[in-house]
Amino acid sequence: MTAKRLYIKTFGCQMNVHDSERISGLLRNEGYRLTEKPEEADMIIVNTCSIREKSEQKGYSDLGRFAQLKRDKPGLVLGMAGCVAQQEGEDVLRRFKGLDLVFGSSNIANVPRMIETITLKSQPVVMVQEPPGPPQTTPAVRKDRVRAWVSIMEGCDRHCAFCVVPTTRGRERSRPSAEIVHEVTHLAEAGYKEITLLGQTVNSYGKSLEEGVDFADLLAMLNGVDGIERIRFESPHPCDMTPKLIETMAELSKVCEYLHLPMQSGSDTVLERMGRGYTLDQYRRIVTRMRQLVPDMAFSTDIIIGFPGETEDDFQETLDAVSEFEFDNVFYFNYSRRPNTPAERFEGQVPEEVKAARFERLSTLEKSLARRKNHALIDTVQEVLVEGRSKRDRVKFTGRTRSNKLVHFGDANEEIGRLLNVRISSAGSTCLEGIPIPSRSR
Ligand code: 5AD
Repeated sequence: MTAKRLYIKTFGCQMNVHDSERISGLLRNEGYRLTEKPEEADMIIVNTCSIREKSEQKGYSDLGRFAQLKRDKPGLVLGMAGCVAQQEGEDVLRRFKGLDLVFGSSNIANVPRMIETITLKSQPVVMVQEPPGPPQTTPAVRKDRVRAWVSIMEGCDRHCAFCVVPTTRGRERSRPSAEIVHEVTHLAEAGYKEITLLGQTVNSYGKSLEEGVDFADLLAMLNGVDGIERIRFESPHPCDMTPKLIETMAELSKVCEYLHLPMQSGSDTVLERMGRGYTLDQYRRIVTRMRQLVPDMAFSTDIIIGFPGETEDDFQETLDAVSEFEFDNVFYFNYSRRPNTPAERFEGQVPEEVKAARFERLSTLEKSLARRKNHALIDTVQEVLVEGRSKRDRVKFTGRTRSNKLVHFGDANEEIGRLLNVRISSAGSTCLEGIPIPSRSR
C-alpha cells in the first residue's frame, strides 16, 4: 500500500512549528508521510497564527488556495489548525466550504480520532474546546536531527492588553517534569545535542502542577541528561525571572549564554497600560544581575511599536532602552488590533504612518547595534554546533554559537551534530563567518 501524503503549512511561532511536528507524528501513525508539494497531498493542514492581523490573513489566503485544489481532487482532506482555528471555531466552516477539519492546539492529541470521524460520517469535524489536564505527550516528526524543540507548558495566565494568546491557547498548563525528562532522554539517545524548551511564558513552568518543581528545577534536571550539550528556552516573562532562576542559569553548564527577554516597550506608562507587570527599572535589574553573573550573556527582545497612546517621548524611551541594553537582536512589530483583547478598544490608536516611521527608526538602530555586537566577535573563538550545510553557499556549513549567533564556516566535510571551535573572521548584521580550528588544537 502506498503511503498517503500530508502537506502542512505552518505560520507563526516556534510553538506552532513544533505543533506541526506533533501533528505529523500522530498522522505518521495513521499512514501519512510528509510531502513538500501541496498538489501531491491527500491531506493538507494549515496551522494558523493570530498574533497579528497580517499572519491571520496569510493563513486564510493559503486556505483559499488549497480549497481550490479540492475542486479537482474531491477526496483531499483539508484541515485548519492553530490559533485562528481556536479563535473562530465553527464560524470558519461558513467562510470555507471545503474544510473538513478544524482544531485548536490543545486538541492535537485527538487528531487520529477526528480523522476516523470524518471517514465514517463524511462531514466536517470541529474541535476547539480546551480539554482539562496537562498537555498530552504525543509523538513528533522532527525535521532537524541535531536541535529539538520540546513543549513544556501551554497557555498563558497573564493578560497583556495587546495579546490574543490567553484566548487562543487557554489557561496555563504544565507537563509533568518526569514526562519532559523522559522525552529529552529519548532525544539524546536519538542523537539530538540541543534542546529548546517551549512555552508561552516558559519560565512560569510548574505553577499549575502539584509537584513543587519550578522552571529552575526543571533546567537542573535536564542539565543532567547525558548526550544533551545545550539547553535553550523561549519565551520567558520578565516577572518570572526569579533570583533563583538567574543563579541557576549561571550555574548550569549546558544552559546557553543567551536570553530572549521580551521588553515590549521602554516607557513605564506604556508598560503599565500594556499590563506587563514590570517597570523599565525592574527589567534593567534582571539584565544587570544576569550580566554580573554571566558577563558574555547575549540578549534579544521583542518590541511593539505604536501601542495605543504611545507618544513620541514614549517611543524615544524605547529607543534609549534598546541602546542601553545593547541587545544582540531585536524583533519588532507594529501594534495590531486583535479581537477580544483589552487594547482593541483603547483610545489613542496610533496611525499606521506613525507606526511605519517609528518602525524605520528602530530598524536602523537595531541593525547598527547588531553589526557592532557581531563585529566585537571577530578574532574570538566560538563553540559552534554543526547544524548542516549552509543554504547560502552549499560548500559551507552553518551552526550557532552558544549565544545563538549564526555562523557560516569551513569547506571540509564537517560532521553534523558535532561541537566545533571556530575562529570568527568576519561579521555582518545577521551572521558571522569563521574558520574551524583543527581538532588537535581544539
Ligand atoms: N500586535 C503586535 N505585536 C504583538 N505581539 C503580541 N501581540 C501583538 C499585537 N497585538 C508581539 C509581542 C510578542 C511577540 C511574540 O509578538 O512583542 O512578544
